[in-house]
Amino acid sequence: MFSLQSKIAIVTGGAKEIGEATCHSFAQQGAMVRLIDIDIPNALRVASAIGACGQAHNCDVTAPDAVTHTIDEIARNHDRLDILVNNAGAGHIGKLDATTEKDLDSMYTINVRSVYFCTRAALPHMKKSGGGSIINLSSIVSTVGIPDRFAYSASKGAVAAMTRSIAVDYLEDGIRCNSVAPARVHTPFVDAYLEKYYPDAQNEMFSQLSRVQPLGRMATPEEVAALICYLASDENAFLTGASLPMDGGAFTLQP
Ligand SMILES: NC(=O)c1ccc[n+]([C@@H]2O[C@H](COP(=O)([O-])OP(=O)(O)OC[C@H]3O[C@@H](n4cnc5c(N)ncnc54)[C@H](O)[C@@H]3O)[C@@H](O)[C@H]2O)c1
Repeated sequence: MFSLQSKIAIVTGGAKEIGEATCHSFAQQGAMVRLIDIDIPNALRVASAIGACGQAHNCDVTAPDAVTHTIDEIARNHDRLDILVNNAGAGHIGKLDATTEKDLDSMYTINVRSVYFCTRAALPHMKKSGGGSIINLSSIVSTVGIPDRFAYSASKGAVAAMTRSIAVDYLEDGIRCNSVAPARVHTPFVDAYLEKYYPDAQNEMFSQLSRVQPLGRMATPEEVAALICYLASDENAFLTGASLPMDGGAFTLQP
């Protein structure tokens, strides 16, 4: 079940956290993993940990020409492309009146335009390969109002909408497109945030953030990666256009 044997998979932002865990899951399932990132030392570290089926590419997903060049090169080398995970992204904290135009544009560039550029470059190769699976990283903020996340929410709402649009437009090409909407995932970003803003109450704030998810904890990158792996697999052939919560019940439960 869930084999990705012989599939060619691109993971953007594969050098760290959710992207890194996804690269490992894909490799364990037999995929050839091509990770795209601007963090070269970590991208090389992940590729080398994966071994022969891993390869790192230095590419900024906000630069359209570089994206097209890199994805064309990967697909041509293997004469196919099966999976694209649009994972590279960034966060922003602030209400509307604490968000500058520059902040908003920067969220749009890294979280929205990058998905457009990478998907645009991947589509012709997936069509030629007879189909494919695209997985976008959205967020709980695409459906739930989370305080202090104005620009980030706007960008991830766009990711969920783009997912549906891509899914419906390429049905006949055998290309599926789904998004994953995690609530809080425990990554170094969370620890750094608590250290910076709550130096004297880190444990208390960590518990508070954990309790936002009714399951009482944050997700792990590996749990998100497992869902991405399922979405990429042929066992998931009947699911497209969906936004799947990875949220410990935060979307639906009020204990
Ligand atoms: N961590 C969470 O709690 C959480 C929750 C919901 C959604 N998400 C989403 O999941 C995705 C991954 O999150 P994460 O916490 O693992 O992020 P992260 O910041 O730990 O890693 C992001 C990766 O993307 C790379 N990257 C950033 N800008 C890039 C660019 N211009 N070109 C190429 N690579 C670039 C970074 O170098 C890094 O390796 C993001 O889209 C994020 O919005 C995360």
